[in-house]
Amino acid sequence: MFKLGFEWEKDRLSERDLKIDQPLYMGYKTRRIYMKIVVIGGTGLIGTKLVNNLRKLGHEVLAASPSAGINAVTGEGLADVLSGAQVVVDVSNSPSFEDKAVLEFFETSTRNLLAAEAAAGVKHHVALSVVGTDRLLQSGYFRAKRAQEDLITASNIPYTIVRATQFFEFVGSIAYVATEGEIVRLPSALTQPIVSDDVAAALADFTLEEPVNGIVEVAGPDQIPLDQLVRQFLSANQDTRQVVTDSNALYFGSAAVNDQSLVPSDSNARIASTRFEDWLNRSTSKV
Ligand SMILES: NC(=O)c1ccc[n+]([C@@H]2O[C@H](COP(=O)([O-])OP(=O)(O)OC[C@H]3O[C@@H](n4cnc5c(N)ncnc54)[C@H](OP(=O)(O)O)[C@@H]3O)[C@@H](O)[C@H]2O)c1
Repeated sequence: MFKLGFEWEKDRLSERDLKIDQPLYMGYKTRRIYMKIVVIGGTGLIGTKLVNNLRKLGHEVLAASPSAGINAVTGEGLADVLSGAQVVVDVSNSPSFEDKAVLEFFETSTRNLLAAEAAAGVKHHVALSVVGTDRLLQSGYFRAKRAQEDLITASNIPYTIVRATQFFEFVGSIAYVATEGEIVRLPSALTQPIVSDDVAAALADFTLEEPVNGIVEVAGPDQIPLDQLVRQFLSANQDTRQVVTDSNALYFGSAAVNDQSLVPSDSNARIASTRFEDWLNRSTSKV
């Protein structure tokens, strides 16, 4: 519908919605299509990187967030920012992970976004979710992510839900939540973490492709037991806390997990290349 790059045929978007140039490529006249893309949560960890990636490709990208006067929960600024946009990517996150607050955040923001997108004629809604969301419903956070996904699926806006595994940058928070005194209690369930740069790169690709109208998964290259992952992280950061393996310990204090819970279920999952060990070496050598 509106792939980036060299298009040979007229597409379904009206020409007035698109900025088009016509370079000569191998003697053929081609056109490169630029879009207006709004990134909700464009100032966050993933949002900042995604905005940069898309801008480098020449798109008009707006980083929307409360600090920029755009609030998906109250609706402030949404109609204006979405005017003329072809794609919206939602990489926002709730300021509170408390069960009721997080559910209210994702339900209200997603309803507001989808309604404003329908009014503005947005052609593709992309949202970032978490691998295993439907296996982790014991957790209020994942019930909220599931509610977000369900609203998107039920809407009339073409969509792509990108489920990513745990970010490398999130491992410190996993340790924090599992800590009691000097002990970090965690199960040995498999994880397949991914670095935020690779998530942002995958999201940029999905943003520029046709809507999948379904779920795609992205993950890092290696499967690592959760206890071992955190042990490696603490050791690389000279953190003296001890990780105790406990098969009854809950993931993020809220959900029982096994070897299938946190890793992709789709054999076609996109596998990124950055390894946790290499990232740890790079990030800790800067300290
Ligand atoms: N952490 C993980 O391992 C993991 C794994 C897979 C998927 N995910 C998903 O990745 C997504 C993004 O995570 P992240 O770590 O990049 O988030 P983050 O760094 O916490 O950033 C959150 C963003 O949301 C914005 N925001 C907050 N309230 C908003 C509102 N009312 N309206 C509009 N924007 C609002 C924030 O804006 P301000 O800067 O103005 O506050 C910020 O830009 C989340 O949906 C999460 O579920 C996370």
